[in-house]
Amino acid sequence: MEILDGKKLSGVIKKEIRGAVNLRKEKGLKTPHLAAVLVGNDGASLTYVGSKVRSCEEVGFQSTLIRLEDTISEEVLLDKIKELNQDESLDGYIVQLPLPKHINEEKILLAVDPDKDVDGFHPTNFGRMALDMESFIPATPFGIIEMLKRYEIPTSGKHCVVIGRSHIVGRPISILMSQKGTAGDSTVTLTHSRTKNLASLTLEADIIISALGVPDFLKADMVKDGVVIIDVGITRVANESHPKGYVIKGDVDFEEVSKKASFITPVPGGVGPMTIAMLLKNTLISCERKSK
Ligand code: GUN
Repeated sequence: MEILDGKKLSGVIKKEIRGAVNLRKEKGLKTPHLAAVLVGNDGASLTYVGSKVRSCEEVGFQSTLIRLEDTISEEVLLDKIKELNQDESLDGYIVQLPLPKHINEEKILLAVDPDKDVDGFHPTNFGRMALDMESFIPATPFGIIEMLKRYEIPTSGKHCVVIGRSHIVGRPISILMSQKGTAGDSTVTLTHSRTKNLASLTLEADIIISALGVPDFLKADMVKDGVVIIDVGITRVANESHPKGYVIKGDVDFEEVSKKASFITPVPGGVGPMTIAMLLKNTLISCERKSK
């Protein structure tokens, strides 16, 4: 069994990005600039956005954090989005999800300029991705594909079972894994809460990508020997003995499943750090596209 070390690999990718940024600076070209919009004080979102901003500093990007009250109206948030769309200094920005319940998430995501949508959540980017056209690929699926490529894990003709049909992970990764090319060409089964006899499908899988958000959901008796496991789950589980009062748990019973797997991502330190690295990559791509 080999660990798919997302922490280490994201470090390599960040180093590459830093190199590209330094080269741009030497040539007098624009420094990539990413902004993050955070509405409210959700603990997990604060952690993620903080990590994104810190990573910008690591690679030499300019970054801007825009914090807004959770009482903000949809109208005022839409005005802010318009402002960001018009801000020529920005190469990309993200609106951290989830948003407060009184705000229509779909309306907000639709207002983002697709050319600055480095999260790849706008329907224009999603549609372009599905049609093999140049687009921004959502950071988490992009990170999974990059990880499979760099670890040279064969995917062609393999049966990939995706658990979860979210717009951010399950749906897009199911499309990417079936596309032509490296870290693609898989036969994909997309499973969800209404899937009957899930274990009969996961037992047939060469690759399992789980993005469910249920700690320890995938057990050893649900997988075959030699399976490749990508665990996208990151759930906070209360734990008094931990200084933070919680621990982060993946969807996979790592202890037992790792005994049968050929490759497996840990949680934390697997897919999570890759997501941030690929958000930076999308921002660099956006900056480079504009310079052309
Ligand atoms: N919330 C959970 N994951 C993400 C993500 O990748 N991007 C944004 N903007 N919000 C999220």
